[in-house]
Parts: sequence; C-alpha cells; structure tokens
Amino acid sequence: MSEDVFKKIVSHCKEYGFVFQSSEIYDGLSAVYDYGQMGVELKNNIKKYWWDSMVLLNENVVGIDSAIFMHPTIWKASGHVDAFNDPLIDNKDSKKRYRADVLIEEYMAKIDDKINKEVEKAAKKFGDSFDETMYRQTNPRVLENQKKRDEVHTRFAKALNDGNLDELRQIIIDCEIADPISGTRNWTDVRQFNLMFATEMGSTADGAMKVYLRPETAQGIFVNFLNVQKTGRMKIPFGIAQIGKAFRNEIVARQFIFRMREFEQMEMQFFVRPGEELGWFAKWKETRMKWHKSLGFGDNKYRFHDHDKLAHYANAATDIEFEMPFGFKEVEGIHSRTDFDLSSHEKFSGKKLQYFDPELNKSYTPYVIETSIGVDRMFLSTVSAAYAEEELEGGETRVVLKLPAALAPIKLAVLPLVKKDGLPEKAREIIDALKFDFKCQYDEKDSIGKRYRRQDAIGTPYCVTVDHQSLEDNTVTIRYRDTMQQERVAIGRLSDIIADKVSMKNLLKTIG
Ligand code: GAP
Repeated sequence: MSEDVFKKIVSHCKEYGFVFQSSEIYDGLSAVYDYGQMGVELKNNIKKYWWDSMVLLNENVVGIDSAIFMHPTIWKASGHVDAFNDPLIDNKDSKKRYRADVLIEEYMAKIDDKINKEVEKAAKKFGDSFDETMYRQTNPRVLENQKKRDEVHTRFAKALNDGNLDELRQIIIDCEIADPISGTRNWTDVRQFNLMFATEMGSTADGAMKVYLRPETAQGIFVNFLNVQKTGRMKIPFGIAQIGKAFRNEIVARQFIFRMREFEQMEMQFFVRPGEELGWFAKWKETRMKWHKSLGFGDNKYRFHDHDKLAHYANAATDIEFEMPFGFKEVEGIHSRTDFDLSSHEKFSGKKLQYFDPELNKSYTPYVIETSIGVDRMFLSTVSAAYAEEELEGGETRVVLKLPAALAPIKLAVLPLVKKDGLPEKAREIIDALKFDFKCQYDEKDSIGKRYRRQDAIGTPYCVTVDHQSLEDNTVTIRYRDTMQQERVAIGRLSDIIADKVSMKNLLKTIG
C-alpha cells in the first residue's frame, strides 16, 4: 500500500465522521485529533475487545482507572524526568525539527526496500525455480546493500545504547541523509528533548506544585500495586489492566493518528516471581499476537521487532509491528520491566511494595511483564487494513471498510425502499426491536444503491431493505457487505443472523 492510499484513508476518516483534526475551525492543533460519531464507536469496540480479552478471559487480571495527575515524584522514580527524552536535530535551512533516530531508521528502511524490490524482480524473472535464500546470499547488489545496512545498524544500536548524540549526528552525516524539505544536509547538533508536558497544580499564592500530564498509564498501575493486591486478595502471578489517556510532547508529529501528543493506551502489568519473568514474557508475546491475528486481516501483516536499545527499565522487549500504509510500524510494546518500577517507588516513597508469597514463605518485590498498546495506533491499523477500493461490474468502484463485524460502528442499516406506503414505519419497527442489542442506523435518503455505498464506506456488515412485500409477509432483503449478496429472510430471523457475526463473545472465543 502506498502513501497515496494513506492520504485517501485520512480523508475517508474525515469524510465519514471517524477522525477530525482537533480545533479545526481554528486551523487545528498539531498532532491532536478528535474522534467523530463513527470513530468513537469503532474506538470503543476496540477498547472493549482488549478489555474483555484481559479481564474476562484471565481470572487473574483485574482492571483499574487511575488519575491522569499523579504526584510529581512518581515521574522522578520512574525515570521519566531524567530519561524520557528523544534525540532531536534541526535542519538549519528548512528550520524543521526531526528525531535523529527516526531519520536513521527511515534510511535503513529505504535500503530494506531496495533489497526487497531487487528480490521481487528476480522472483518474477525466474518464476518457480527461484531460490530466495540463495539469491539473498549470493547476489552482489543485495549483498552490498545488506552490508551497508548492517554497518549502519550496528553503529546506530551502539550509539543509542551509549546515549552518544555526537555519533548519531555523525551517522546522519556519513549516510548523507538530507532534509526531505530543504534537500540540504545542513544539520545542527543532536540534543535531548524531554517529552513530558508540565503544568501547575494549586494557585501560585499557595505555592503551586509542578505536575505532569502522565506520559504512560503504567505508573498508575505500579503505585496501586499493593492496593489492588491486598483489597483483591490477588496471588502472584496476577495482572492489572488499565485504559486511559497519555500525553507526550512529540517532536515529530506526523502520520495522522500514528504519533499524537494526546493519545490513549491500553496497558497491562503482570506481576510475577523474580526469575520467572522471561517465561511469562514469551507467553504474553504469544497471547498478544494471537489477539491481533484474530481480527482476520492476514497473519503476514504482523511481525515482532526486538528492541535494539532496551529502555532503562527492561531486560527484554519486543514490539508487535503492523504493516501500515507507510510500512511496518509499532502498534504494541511488550516489555519485561524487571522490578525496576516497584523498587524505585519503594525507594522514593519510603513505602514497602512487597508481596508475601505463601508457597515460598518469603517476601519479594515482584517482577513485571507489561503489554502496552496504543488505542489510536490500533484504530489506524484497523482502518488501514479494512479499507478497500473495489472495481464492480459496469466499471463502478466502491469504497468499503471491511471491518471485523464485532468492531464495526454500525451493525445494521435499515432502509425503506421508498419514503411512503408505510415502509418507513415498518423499518422503524425493526429498529425498535433490535436497537437493544445492535447499533442500528435508519436511512431513507437517496437511491438504495447510494445508501448501500454509504454503509459500505463506514463498514456496516448488514443492510436490510424493507419493501412492499415486507408489509405482506414480514420478510426483508438482507445484504452482506463483503460479498454484496442479498437474500430474503423473515424479520424474526434477523436478530440471530446478525448476532452470530457481530458478537464480541464469538470473537473472544477464537482466542479464549
Ligand atoms: N508503558 C510503556 C510505554 O508507554 P511505549 O512503547 O512508549 O511504552 C506504548 O508506548 C504504546 O503506546 C506504543 O506501542 C504505541 O502504540 C502507543 N504510543 C506511544 N506513543 C504514542 C503517540 N505519540 N501517539 C500514539 N500512540 C502512541
């Protein structure tokens, strides 16, 4: 999929009420977005699927909802005040600011693209007899590009791990990376930039306190670890899940809702015995990948990407990447966070955050596996994968969102064939009977064909058309979004037909 398709997806999201630029009538606010009438339904369904997969399917995972404002020392203890930085670099000609690490990553991705194109070309040329592994190991152009990429990758990983900002700049210079806007290589030094938003709590007369908008929801879980463990009588291993807003003053705010300054996370911290963390890390990796793949967009759209640079708190970390229109990108992070956070909060708060393990007959600070997924990125990956432009017979095209039925904003559209003869009333009767179970939409404007297109565009899995025959025999035509096939069914059967496909329970059963 290309950047071109991405642009279409962005305008589709606006045109059909999924996502709007925040404060649009004031020319917008960079990297902040609002979800519209369709977007909020899709987003709520994504959140419900995640929440239920955590707290319904796992007896030992419970949820909380902690506040966005927290005591400022929490961010000192978590390392965010000192280490939650991105390396930034400015181009002196365009005056544009970039993340140095992203510039280098994009450069490496371009080399990967070159290699893959070379391989694809050869695969086409040689057909069935093509041996890809052999080709990658022997073709001189592939080998040369691979060597170049590996060298940059090694230097890059070391520079990140050492926090060596001069070396990051040197890689940009050596790779001759130019600013996409000015086209020049006139770069400033690389500097660190803290991503937390700060504000003040209390009036200045009382001595206001500097507080932060939380950059992750995880810390709200850590500081409530003992509250939940004790009041819920939780036994290790157990998890705490939370969905909520997070805020980061991102330097490079691009790619629509992929990188936002205000976004939402779905995080789960799983507390385990020290020494058992890597086994649980592997288990949660598998569980989370299964959740993603259950949506049916194709297994080839996902991959794991192990981190080159481990965050200050982790002893293992991987990303689940999804093939966005602009390449494979991180949607979820899975981290083995050791006992870093709990131990640090013990130190800074002076309170014990230990667990007495009755089986081992001793107390310890638990280790933590974290799964952390961005709601907005999940939303973007879902819409991108679902978006399709299809050629129809007669040269017409239709734009359809092939959303998993359980996530679709509207489950059923009820359409009277004409606006008279009692058909609208019959349509309303059907909605009145079904509205308690399914989000329905009534539409009587324009031709049936146009109305089908509108429902395709928002991903409605079922359209029901009420015609004159419906008044006589209580049957309607049901039309299926993906196949566009239609069949005549009794109104009394609608609920069963729809429930089977749109049920969140059935989706959960595929992973539970
Ligand atoms: N508690 C760990 C943590 O916050 P992270 O990798 O920084 O880890 C987790 O973030 C997830 O949050 C990411 O995989 C991504 O989906 C989402 N995310 C992070 N920054 C984001 C941003 N600026 N805009 C949208 N989503 C973001």
